[in-house]
Amino acid sequence: MDLGRLRGNAAAIQASLGGAGMLAVIKSDAYGHGLETVAASLGRAGVSRFAVAYVAEAAAVRVAAPAAELVLVLGAACPAEVPRMLRERLTPVVVSAEHGRALSAAAVAAGGRLGVHVKLDTGMGRLGFVCPAETAQAAEVCRLPGLEVRGVCTHFAMVEPEKKPAAARGQAEKFRQALPLIEAAAGRRLFRHMSSSRAALLLPECDQDAVRMGISLYGYGAAEQDKRFATVPVLQWKSRVMQVKTVPAGFAVGYYASYKTPAPTDLATISCGYTDGYQRHLGNKGQVLVGGKRRPVVGRVSMNWISADLGPDSGVKAGDEVVLIGEQGGERIWADELAKHCGTIAYEILTGISRQIERRYVGG
Ligand SMILES: Cc1ncc(COP(=O)(O)O)c(C=O)c1O
Repeated sequence: MDLGRLRGNAAAIQASLGGAGMLAVIKSDAYGHGLETVAASLGRAGVSRFAVAYVAEAAAVRVAAPAAELVLVLGAACPAEVPRMLRERLTPVVVSAEHGRALSAAAVAAGGRLGVHVKLDTGMGRLGFVCPAETAQAAEVCRLPGLEVRGVCTHFAMVEPEKKPAAARGQAEKFRQALPLIEAAAGRRLFRHMSSSRAALLLPECDQDAVRMGISLYGYGAAEQDKRFATVPVLQWKSRVMQVKTVPAGFAVGYYASYKTPAPTDLATISCGYTDGYQRHLGNKGQVLVGGKRRPVVGRVSMNWISADLGPDSGVKAGDEVVLIGEQGGERIWADELAKHCGTIAYEILTGISRQIERRYVGG
């Protein structure tokens, strides 16, 4: 994990945003990169706003980046967690009238005033007050005792300006239309945020006061030609060759012999499997880097091991480095390549790397 690259990405994003700030989305263990280390590193680099999914994650961010101005909990925090949120200056979103009343009662009982952001559902169909039907209820949150509404936000379901230009713009319009009622109830302009990485790249007009930046921070999601900023992958995933054996043609590899060597070759058994987050879909599809070259992953992915066909006279030996995601000898394999083989997205590959895999950091 290259923290220098992470901070470089943060700086590139921040520079491109102009007036808007960045809210670093570091939920799911900072997309698999390590919550505390990422929060601390970004915090030292001057990032002061963070978003996570759960209160426990937010509390860890408060410890790692004590000076953070905002630690936002994007999930619907429980009323039982209000004392902790008050104590540790954590800011939940309010997602419904019932949720608002429950947080309000808990804050009053705790004798505190809890800063919150109101979450609007403008078309994602997930958390939040449905707009415009529940905009008035969202405004009512501003009048609840024990709560102080400081922000208002929504989340895009799709950002496809070429194919479906109306979708995101319709959501943005619903958001803009909801603001006057909510801000009138709050008695002031609120901190507004709507976009995440893709919208930041493709719909700069939606920036608002801050952009919730997740995947771009880690170096993915910015493949478009007209991108507004460029970021580089932060994480590499490495393993070791456990055994190399020279085998004849027709040699069966792995469970159910789904691969048979077409010719005499060297086979590597590599320490890594689906328990580590290396998905079974990668069997007979994925590639790894060994000895500075791409090598096919052959046979099925086992719980703890995979095999790679190295070709004859490979010169590879037990103990050699294997790159599952990253760079070696000028070759590169990034998480989006694995994602394509698995029919998924880089987010799932990154967050799926098991916590039991040791994280090492460079670029302090
Ligand atoms: C509410 C919310 N905001 C922002 C983000 C960050 O999105 P991205 O990683 O695409 O930037 C997410 C990601 O899941 C999210 O759920």
